[in-house]
Amino acid sequence: MNLLLFLVQFISTVPITAVLVFVLLKLVARFRRSGEAGLGLGRAVLVTGCDSGFGHRLAGALDRGGFVVFAGCLSPDGDGAQSLVRDGSGNLKVLQLDVTKEEEVQQARKTVQENLPEEGLWAVVNNAGISDWAEIEWSSLEDFRHMADVNLFGSIRTTIAFLPLVRAAKGRVVFVSSIFAFFHCLNMGAYSVSKRGLEAFADCLRVEMASFGVKVSIIQPGNFAGATNILKTKTASDIWAKLDDDRKVVFNRRYVELANDYFKSTCKTGFKTAEPVVTAMLHALTSTRPKSRYLLVSALDKVFFKLYPLLPTVFADSVFSFSSMYKTRKQMLFNQ
Ligand SMILES: NC(=O)c1ccc[n+]([C@@H]2O[C@H](COP(=O)([O-])OP(=O)(O)OC[C@H]3O[C@@H](n4cnc5c(N)ncnc54)[C@H](OP(=O)(O)O)[C@@H]3O)[C@@H](O)[C@H]2O)c1
Repeated sequence: MNLLLFLVQFISTVPITAVLVFVLLKLVARFRRSGEAGLGLGRAVLVTGCDSGFGHRLAGALDRGGFVVFAGCLSPDGDGAQSLVRDGSGNLKVLQLDVTKEEEVQQARKTVQENLPEEGLWAVVNNAGISDWAEIEWSSLEDFRHMADVNLFGSIRTTIAFLPLVRAAKGRVVFVSSIFAFFHCLNMGAYSVSKRGLEAFADCLRVEMASFGVKVSIIQPGNFAGATNILKTKTASDIWAKLDDDRKVVFNRRYVELANDYFKSTCKTGFKTAEPVVTAMLHALTSTRPKSRYLLVSALDKVFFKLYPLLPTVFADSVFSFSSMYKTRKQMLFNQ
């Protein structure tokens, strides 16, 4: 009887103990991660895609934090690049850098090398990127290629060119990916391909660079379309014009319009500030213990997005059947 009582008491305390141990481990991990390698300290960082959005804000924040900043811009004479020059210190230099062009990457490397501070090139932030939406059947091979050219091969090209400098500084490489690297939802085929490829590259690089003391981090923002310039101005007519006659029969015009409106309105529901992403980028660059992945979604969504990649495919796919858009799609295309 006593043994039974003991067992009941023991079992009832197990969940509480487990929760306490979990919270304790989390606190220890947070404390261990919080050490900063010392902001700036005259080190240099190259950031790509600084004309607008996350890259633009990060370049300003790094400059204020005492880094020497090489801000890669697609249009150095454009408003975004010029405002960096106007508002920045003498330690911020804007570079012409289209990551799809080998000669511009090589020229940028030459300029960086010639202007490096004594501490060398601490980090490269592969931030430049584009986005688009379309069902796979509405996309051409060229659409997939263009997306991969910027988001995937642009980052690979930049990383390979600058890696010897970062390796010498035992520094950091940061990749801006997306939740769509692992969340395979409707309309995001080309973007998902580019970001999943990017994460595969970053994961392999992390393993190879560990022995050189170089740390690699992946930033996975959720919906920040309202906080940057990423959202394309694309109409249903643009999509419709690209469809061949067969597909115009399968995907009727009204559905294309609805899908386009739905996608755009969903994008507008996300974060209105880039702050969480820039904070994560700064952590990846300055913490003594940067994370391998920074998932940036709302607190409520975090549980879902942490669990989603662990689900068996059959459950992961069925998640989408709860979306109102999938129901509408079934009704409009198949009368179901
Ligand atoms: N915003 C979001 O919701 C979100 C979510 C997940 C991931 N991301 C990722 O975050 C990164 C930054 O995007 P963002 O949201 O800050 O959008 P953004 O404001 O459009 O910034 C992207 C930057 O990349 C530049 N760029 C485009 N093509 C380029 C090229 N070939 N070479 C060099 N630079 C190029 C853009 O220049 P222009 O302005 O001249 O086009 C722009 O400055 C991207 O990798 C994106 O995929 C964004």
